[in-house]
Amino acid sequence: MSDIKKIGILTSGGDCSGLNVAISGVVKAATLKGWTIYGIHNGTEGLTERPLSYEVLTLQNFSDTPWSKTAGSYLGSLNKGIKADQMDAVAERFGEGVRELGLDAVIVLGGDGSMNVLKHYCTKAGIKMIGLPKTIDNDTPLTDFSIGFQTACQVCMEAVDNIDTTARSHHRAMIIEMMGRDAGHLALQSAIAGYADVCLIPEIPYTLDGIINKLEAVKATGRTHAIIVVSEGIKTETGEVLSAAKNLVGEKVHGGIGDYLANLLNEKYNGFQIRCTRLGHTQRSGHPVFGDRIMASVFAAKAVELLAQGKTNVMVGLSKGEVTSYPLEDVVAAGTKSVDLNSSYIKAAKLLGMYIGEI
Ligand code: F6P
Repeated sequence: MSDIKKIGILTSGGDCSGLNVAISGVVKAATLKGWTIYGIHNGTEGLTERPLSYEVLTLQNFSDTPWSKTAGSYLGSLNKGIKADQMDAVAERFGEGVRELGLDAVIVLGGDGSMNVLKHYCTKAGIKMIGLPKTIDNDTPLTDFSIGFQTACQVCMEAVDNIDTTARSHHRAMIIEMMGRDAGHLALQSAIAGYADVCLIPEIPYTLDGIINKLEAVKATGRTHAIIVVSEGIKTETGEVLSAAKNLVGEKVHGGIGDYLANLLNEKYNGFQIRCTRLGHTQRSGHPVFGDRIMASVFAAKAVELLAQGKTNVMVGLSKGEVTSYPLEDVVAAGTKSVDLNSSYIKAAKLLGMYIGEI
């Protein structure tokens, strides 16, 4: 058993729907244990900047407000990355912040990058850490799902449905660019659910001829419009990274491949007029769907249970329908979770006649 009295909770990395459900769940379960809950503002910044930025979360001020069921992060988040040579200095300030508040543990809502960085900070600060996976990219390893993914799929699928009507009116092939960084989970699953004709993901190379052949096959059926989903992380046909943009710490920033492909296809092929829509940050919006709400609530309860049992350095996750936990070092070692090319989703896309590249 543990001697926990005060815990912190923070959201790190890109926001998504379901974060507030998880925060609310932690507040409910930890309050019942008699713990004080510090909501840390803006990811780690609330503990590394001076003055510290945080608020004490209670059932009255958080749990039953409309906030708990909306997208975004009530606490604010940080998606900046950190240079390796700055890690120790920031960890030092993080540790000072932890000691000033007297925290015994921190619950971190983050993706694979955040789990890695926060594991380092918490180990240095000598406090317990429990991770809860969240990202619209669903690329956090080991767990089947991360919080936020299912709502993002819902938003993307509805976007496909909405774009389908104008595609139909104007007899166009519409490219829809979706997020996901270097993993195609969001694009692939939304494309299947949205009945797309083509779906390109970073894990699979493609050819322009492959796309054009599929568009011709669509026309041959008598249909005069088509839907092409592209994941932001795909490369050009010849394998080049399109976007030269980098963030503050030199990581590549995605976006723009959809417009690039639309221009290229319009030059090369006149079977359809082609337009592109980039869904952008709308993909982080949306009322959390049932799957995210139930998962965020159950993950939150599990995190508090684990801390009460004296556990640390683990990430909660879902494996074959069961909520479980994984050592953080295994999560970090596993790296980003790509689309498994032998998965049922890939098989289904092919069986349904979708062009998903040269596989
Ligand atoms: O990791 C989540 C994510 O939404 C990615 O899909 C996307 O590439 C990235 O964050 C965008 O980050 P930002 O909002 O910092 O531009």
